[in-house]
Amino acid sequence: MPNTAKTEKPQAMEKPQDAIALLRADHKHLSDLFAKYEEMRSSSQKKAHVAQICTEFKIHALVEEEIFYPAVKKALKDDEMIPEALVEHASINNLVGQLESMEPDGEMYDAKIKVMSEYVKHHVKEEQQELFPKAKETKLDMNDLGARMASRKEELFAQKPGH
Ligand SMILES: [Fe+2]
Ligand SMILES: [Fe+2]
Repeated sequence: MPNTAKTEKPQAMEKPQDAIALLRADHKHLSDLFAKYEEMRSSSQKKAHVAQICTEFKIHALVEEEIFYPAVKKALKDDEMIPEALVEHASINNLVGQLESMEPDGEMYDAKIKVMSEYVKHHVKEEQQELFPKAKETKLDMNDLGARMASRKEELFAQKPGH
């Protein structure tokens, strides 16, 4: 199906990218994809585009959960921001699951993608305005975290479930 390799892979391999820059680039990419959904007309276009959005979100969230969140949680001794972020990931992933198992031919489909984009927007705002500034104040090696996340992303995109 149409969603093939993404631009993140070559970027990640070419230059070291700090963790926060990598996550911000993902956020921007997701927000562009949500905006582009408005242009999708046919059911098959919608379905392929939503499959791409869902894959991008799942991989982004997984890389945060496996690498970035645990490091930041530990460094900040956080017991609030990261647990809330995990709950937000879970509710967005719930919508991902619903979208992936339905056909794009009714008003509920558009409603779910709209609500998903709103949840993601809210979540991204909290990360960028609260979590990232606090993470930057720690002694964490952001280049090392970024490199580990970039390579994990590559791995996940390479083995991503077919659509
Ligand atoms: Fe997140
Ligand atoms: Fe994020």
